[in-house]
Amino acid sequence: MNKILLWLVVLTMSFVSVSMAELSLSESRWTQEAYDLAHSGDANKGKKLAKKCGSCHGDNGVSEDNETPSLAGQKAAYTFKQIYDYKNKIRANKTMYKKVKKINIQDMANIAAWYQTQQGEKKMSNNSVPTMVSNGDKKRFLIACNMCHNPQVMNGGFQVPILAGQKIDYLIETLTAFKEDDRENDEYRVMRDIAKQLSEEEIKTIAKYYAAKVIIEDE
Ligand code: HEC
Ligand code: HEC
Repeated sequence: MNKILLWLVVLTMSFVSVSMAELSLSESRWTQEAYDLAHSGDANKGKKLAKKCGSCHGDNGVSEDNETPSLAGQKAAYTFKQIYDYKNKIRANKTMYKKVKKINIQDMANIAAWYQTQQGEKKMSNNSVPTMVSNGDKKRFLIACNMCHNPQVMNGGFQVPILAGQKIDYLIETLTAFKEDDRENDEYRVMRDIAKQLSEEEIKTIAKYYAAKVIIEDE
């Protein structure tokens, strides 16, 4: 994806809630209706429903192993969309499909609302910021990860997940899945087109930077 196109994506995403209702499904699944639904959750109802997710994602959404993503503190719209995508096999994962196949769409929003209210893990404090995260790479037409994944800038956009405090092995796995087209549920292919240009080494460095405070084996 070239730089101009990426900027268009950033701009479109920041105005998405008002303008996307006009767009066709082939352009984005984020319609006004989907946006409203994703933000309509009742956290109290979600809390009860999330009990059966705790064995893997942790009782309060902080998972205990590094391969299972934490859900605590994540933006509700992002969590909502992932549950929807697993159920509809847009994001292929057998385990998650089984866990969510019976959940109706309003309960997806309820669960997502509850996880958003939970406290995520702190990220490591003494990491230096990788250049890719802060500046991107002009040579490869890559804009900075933090242009989108930074809560300080445009609040990141409602559909951009918070990465800080996420589990390290999960971050590596899901970025590799984007890179290899094994994860295909990103709108406009935004993450696939970016991840394709990252080396394995860069993916590890970036994952280490964003990851929760954990013991990392030095390679
Ligand atoms: C048996 C363990 C297990 C259970 C139980 C489980 N999950 Fe998961 N979940 C996973 C794993 C592993 C992944 C990563 C899958 C992947 O790579 O796509 C995941 C991914 C997710 C994601 C994507 C997170 C992200 O950052 O993209 C969401 C959302 C999620 N699960 C919600 C739930 C909900 C809601 C429930 C309960 C109804 C649940 N999970 C139950 C193991 C589990
Ligand atoms: C143009 C905006 C944009 C840029 C730039 C961007 N991302 Fe993303 N990223 C997104 C969006 C939107 C999603 C959500 C995709 C979905 O709906 O599943 C996402 C998802 C992700 C996820 C999945 C998180 C999870 O919990 O599963 C990771 C990891 C990620 N991005 C890492 C990066 C890295 C590393 C960079 C820089 C090399 C980057 N992103 C640059 C917009 C962006």
